Amino acid sequence: MRFDTGCACCRDDFYDYEEWIMQRVTVVDHPLAQHKLTLMRDKNRSTREFRQLLNEVGMLLCYELTRDLKLEAVEVETPLQKTLAPALSGKKLVFAPILRAGTGFLDGMLQLAPAARVAHIGLYRNPETLEAVEYYFKAPADVADRLVVLMDPMLATGNSAIAAVKLLKDKGARDIRFACLLAAPEGIEKLRCAHPDVEIWTVAIDSHLNDHGYIVPGLGDAGDRMYGTK
Ligand code: URA
Repeated sequence: MRFDTGCACCRDDFYDYEEWIMQRVTVVDHPLAQHKLTLMRDKNRSTREFRQLLNEVGMLLCYELTRDLKLEAVEVETPLQKTLAPALSGKKLVFAPILRAGTGFLDGMLQLAPAARVAHIGLYRNPETLEAVEYYFKAPADVADRLVVLMDPMLATGNSAIAAVKLLKDKGARDIRFACLLAAPEGIEKLRCAHPDVEIWTVAIDSHLNDHGYIVPGLGDAGDRMYGTK
């Protein structure tokens, strides 16, 4: 599938693009993640249920995108004997939710990786231009040495994700993964053009964006649905 995002670098390298998608986008097709997303799409889902489901999907995404974390053998003494057993040894984590909807994943991720640090990235969408506007950014000082999991439930235009990756890179981050619930093809392509090093994990890739920058069929405004602000 190709979408003209107006991005010059995507136009002439179709095969590179297809290959990049295969290598750098993971669709989490675990039945539990798929089922939870379907529940969340339902417009009659309550705010409480929506928030709970987002939290649970955060946990599943965290599980999937940390699959390749490095392990080392450490000595441990069980009640029976000493033995060598695997323990995490690689880079430590930073979870970086884009405010406000990204916080919906945070508790679920922290339940699996409670020692992770947290960065907060405040961006809002200018409703006319759909551009991302920064209003807050705070990240751990050692972000350069950590694996950063940037999170936002909706990868729509890609503008917020691109701005957030830039803020993190300006602070020194070099190893960034992006976690979302739903992605639009346009957003994937745009993020890929701006930051080809950033891998994407999503539960589904939907059809397209509408004229207001909403993902179709999507689930509506994730922030409003989590916080009951509509
Ligand atoms: N942000 C949302 O919350 N929903 C969309 O469909 C697009 C962007």
